[in-house]
Amino acid sequence: MPDLVGQKIAITGLTGQVAKPVATALAERNDVFGLARFSNPAVRAELEAAGVRCVTADLGGGDFGELPADIDYLIHMAVAKTMDWDADMAANVEGTGLLLHHCRQAKGVLHVSSTAVYHPDGHHRFAETDPLGDNHRVPAMSWMPTYSILKIAAEGAARTAARLFDIPTTIARLNVPYGHSGGWPLFQLAQVLADDPIAVHTDSPTLYNPIHDDDILRMIPGLLDVASTPATVVNWAGVEEAGIEDWCGYFGQLTGHDVSFLPTDDVLESVAVDTTRMVELVGPTQVSWHDGMRRLVEHFHPDLALRS
Ligand SMILES: NC(=O)c1ccc[n+]([C@@H]2O[C@H](COP(=O)([O-])OP(=O)(O)OC[C@H]3O[C@@H](n4cnc5c(N)ncnc54)[C@H](OP(=O)(O)O)[C@@H]3O)[C@@H](O)[C@H]2O)c1
Repeated sequence: MPDLVGQKIAITGLTGQVAKPVATALAERNDVFGLARFSNPAVRAELEAAGVRCVTADLGGGDFGELPADIDYLIHMAVAKTMDWDADMAANVEGTGLLLHHCRQAKGVLHVSSTAVYHPDGHHRFAETDPLGDNHRVPAMSWMPTYSILKIAAEGAARTAARLFDIPTTIARLNVPYGHSGGWPLFQLAQVLADDPIAVHTDSPTLYNPIHDDDILRMIPGLLDVASTPATVVNWAGVEEAGIEDWCGYFGQLTGHDVSFLPTDDVLESVAVDTTRMVELVGPTQVSWHDGMRRLVEHFHPDLALRS
């Protein structure tokens, strides 16, 4: 696996769940510029203390202020989810194109997409060539209606920019990120601890390929190394499949809570993915979901005496 040292790296979305630990870790040995609106000034102060140079910009505005044009690598993780189609189209799609134009001298771009771009299809393991569709078209996800469609559209913008400006690009479709930065399983852990029923799909088990923060950070240099023109498109996910039923059951086992499930059609259905291409390009993930989920519980609830 290649390493990233002494590079000038721009990261977007760095006040969010996934990018924040990446930015702080990369800032230890690289010159990291972080771009966001910094809606939360406390996060800005935390990032600056970790050595990240913060640049305030709104992707939809297209003015990237003090972000140097001569960066070596761009890791584009920002996503706007305002429920306003025009604003989200401007930030996610036009913003991607404009940002890649600004960073067109880069040696490599990692554009972070989502496995929410795949058209739902039960327990099928999605490969990169499978049909795309609006995975979020269920009432439970009505609070982020623009998400899937604009993640697909943003991939289009990244692919176009890669060819237009000849920028080596990887589009990595992330599955369920989790770890010390939280994530979807953390919400379910809270439900387990409150003895609330967990919503799962009627087409049980509700399968995913969760990926731990440690693997995300470890795989970034490799994903930048395989960037190409036209863009490389790859799933970015844990090599182990696990159902919500599995990891919530495990939370129950660790914490001594009985876990109950509420089967419904009003949740996202399975998004299990084929990781063959990922493994060929950058190797497998290393954190098993059992280990990662246990560490999640230990990190957020150090007071709990966990069972084996
Ligand atoms: N979390 C997941 O479960 C998951 C799953 C699959 C894929 N992904 C993908 O992984 C990436 C990171 O996700 P995340 O969950 O960490 O995101 P998040 O927590 O929702 O954070 C979104 C980030 O985007 C920035 N942002 C939003 N609108 C912006 C705008 N108009 N201009 C500039 N920055 C803007 C926000 O910063 P400000 O508000 O400060 O501007 C924030 O840093 C995204 O591309 C997402 O689609 C996430």
